[in-house]
Formats: sequence, C-alpha cells, structure tokens
Amino acid sequence: MSKKEAPIGIFDSGIGGLTVVKAVRKSLPSEHIIYFGDTARVPYGIKSTDTIREYALQITHFLIGKKVKAILVACNSVASAAQHEIKELCREHDIPVLDVIEAGTKAALAVNKPVNNVGVIGTLATIGSGAYENALMANGNKTLVFSRPCPLLVPLAEEGWTDNAIAIETLKIYLSDFKDKELDSLILGCTHYPLFKESIKKVLGDAPEIIDSAESIAEMTVDMLRQKGWANPTGEGRFDCFVSDKPQRFKVLAERFLGEKLNRVEIINLKS
Ligand code: DGL
Repeated sequence: MSKKEAPIGIFDSGIGGLTVVKAVRKSLPSEHIIYFGDTARVPYGIKSTDTIREYALQITHFLIGKKVKAILVACNSVASAAQHEIKELCREHDIPVLDVIEAGTKAALAVNKPVNNVGVIGTLATIGSGAYENALMANGNKTLVFSRPCPLLVPLAEEGWTDNAIAIETLKIYLSDFKDKELDSLILGCTHYPLFKESIKKVLGDAPEIIDSAESIAEMTVDMLRQKGWANPTGEGRFDCFVSDKPQRFKVLAERFLGEKLNRVEIINLKS
C-alpha cells in the first residue's frame, strides 16, 4: 500500500476523539481513517502519567501494526502525558505524529497580540501536567496562561447534557475564574469540550476566541499531508472503528458525536 492510500490513525481514551475524526473527515474526505477508543479503560483524565503513558504506547503499537501513515493523538490527557514517547516510537517507523496540544497552542498563539491572555480548560491530568503552559510559553512567547480543570464536563457530555440548566450552572462555576482575566482566547483542552462551545459562549460572552483543537489538528493534518505529498487524491475515505470494550454503546454515542451512521465497530484486546 502506498503512503497516499494508507489510513490515518486517530486515537483517544474513548469516544471524545471523534470530534477530531469529524473535523478531519470534513477537511480530508478522501482519507481512510482508523480510530481506536480505549473504552475499557476510559477515563484517562483522572489517571497517573505513568498509566496513561503505558496505555498510549500500547495503542500506538496497535496503529503502527495497521500500517497508518500518520497518527493523530486526539486525547489531550494522552498528549500531555506521552507526546514525546509516542513521537519517539513512531520516528522509527517514519510515521509523523500530530497532537491536540500542539494544534491548540498554535491556534491560540495565532491571535496576534503583544501579550496573549490564554485560558485553558481540560481534565485533571492535562491541567495538572502543565503541558499547555509549557507549550504556550515556549520560545519566549509573551503569554499569560490561566488554567482550570473541569472534570465534570466529560460525564455531562457523554450524557448529552451540554446545553441544559445543569451544564450552564456547571460552566458558570468552572469559568468564574476567567471572568476578570480579559482572555484573548480559551483553549478547549479536552476532546469533549467542543460540544459545550455554544454554552461556553453564553457564559463568557463572545470576547475570547474559542480554540477548538479538533479543528486546528485537522488543518495541521491537511498541511502535513500536502507537504509530504501523502494526501489521498480521490474517492470516499473509509472509517474503521476499534474499541477495547462495549462496541454497542460506542456505536450509539459515536453516531451522536459524528451525526452519521457507523457500519461496524470492532472490539480489540490490546494486551493479547
Ligand atoms: N479524551 C480525554 C481528554 O481529551 C477526556 C476523557 C478522559 O478523561 O479520558 O483529555
């Protein structure tokens, strides 16, 4: 199989990475995608760095075995714990790796101000790691970063409660820290948070630009494939899904996330 026809591997701790799939399928409809969601071990956002790293490398091995031409790390918790290890492993196989933290950071820094006030929300693992702060302040960028973990948002999103009274009240509490910070942008540093975009705007107003890492990583993927000459020029891209548990529930939730019907979801035991 040539690089052009090879699939792109995208993975997440569970369902949330489908926000990245949706953005990539929109920008690159001819690309074949293999998605892995670790539904047996989700959530990652409350786990330790070592545990997240171990799981992430198992999934990376699985995708390498599927002969992917690139890997997109859709999970912020994984990117914050294991981005360097995943890249190192993939380098040996000539597989470029893009992740949502570099994508979100790039988009936030594109807001051209002498000093950027950036808000970041994410899981406990992502915010606790300081990965966004480090990326935003690298290379001497003049950036003030305000971050806040919002652990209740993942279960709310999976319940489909993204714009009801409970979602709005929860966001009001989490986002109250940002009210007086005059943010230029707010990075949605978790796969599930793009689903709250409209509710966040209701709470914070239109002033901060909302950075959806799913859209930024899709743009980076387009550029990367163009530069390498690896884009699949024609045809409709296939979409194959693999999970580690409960494929039926994944299918129902995935169809809600993606707004399209899935053919098949296959169950895989990564440890075997
Ligand atoms: N995918 C995770 C992230 O973006 C959220 C869900 C989880 O905690 O596993 O951080």
